[in-house]
Amino acid sequence: MDENIREAISDLKCYLEYLKGMGISSLPVSENVSERVVKSEIQTLTDVQKTLGDCKRCKLHRTRRTIVFGEGNEKATLMFVGEGPGYDEDVQGRPFVGKAGQLLTKIIESINLSREEVYIANIVKCRPPQNRNPETDEIQSCNPFLMDQIRVIRPRIICALGSFAAQTLLKTSTKISELRGKIFDIEGIKVIPTYHPAFLLRNPERKRDVWEDMKKIAEYLRNADRRGQSG
Ligand code: URA
Repeated sequence: MDENIREAISDLKCYLEYLKGMGISSLPVSENVSERVVKSEIQTLTDVQKTLGDCKRCKLHRTRRTIVFGEGNEKATLMFVGEGPGYDEDVQGRPFVGKAGQLLTKIIESINLSREEVYIANIVKCRPPQNRNPETDEIQSCNPFLMDQIRVIRPRIICALGSFAAQTLLKTSTKISELRGKIFDIEGIKVIPTYHPAFLLRNPERKRDVWEDMKKIAEYLRNADRRGQSG
C-alpha cells in the first residue's frame, strides 16, 4: 500500500479513536454537543488525565516514550505553559526537567514561588521527534486537554513560554517579541507571554526582559490577592 494512504488511514483511525474517547460513537456529530458533554464531566485533573488515557490521537504517540501530562498544584494561581517535552521530559514523564527546566525553576523562584506551588504544562504532551516544532494537527489534537487543565485549575494568570505557547493560547501569529510582557485574556484568565527558557539559554541578554515580565506577574498576583481578600 502507498505510504501516504497508510498514513492517512492511520490518522483517520487516530481521529476516530479520539471521537470514541470523547464518548462519540456515531457520526456525524456537532462539535459543540460533544464539547458540552465532556466539559460538564471534567472536574479534576485526574478526570482530564483519564480522558486523555494512553493517547494516540496524533502521530506523536508513535515516537514518544512517555506522555508528559503536566505537574504542580491543582489550585495554582500561576500556571506556565511551554511548547512540548524534550528528551529529558520524555524519559522522566515530567515537564521542564532538562536544562531549560532548571532555568525555569530559577525563574519561578525569582518571584518567591516554588515549582510545587505553580502548575507547569505544555502545548503538546508528547515529544516531537528530534525536538522539531509541534505541527498544527498535533497542537489541535492536544489543545482540548490543555484547555481542560486550564479550566480545572483556573489560575489567576498563565505565563506562556515562547512563541508556540503564546501564539497557540492567544490564537495569533504575532511575534513573541511583540507579545511578551503584555497582558491578554482567555476565558477570563490573564495571559502574559514571555521568552522560552531554552531561548534564554541561547540569548542570555534577554533574561532582563523575562525578569521584567516576572515582576509584572508577581505584581498582578499581589493585587489579585488583595482584591480577593477584600472581595
Ligand atoms: N521545553 C518545553 O517547552 N517544555 C518542556 O517541558 C521542556 C522543554
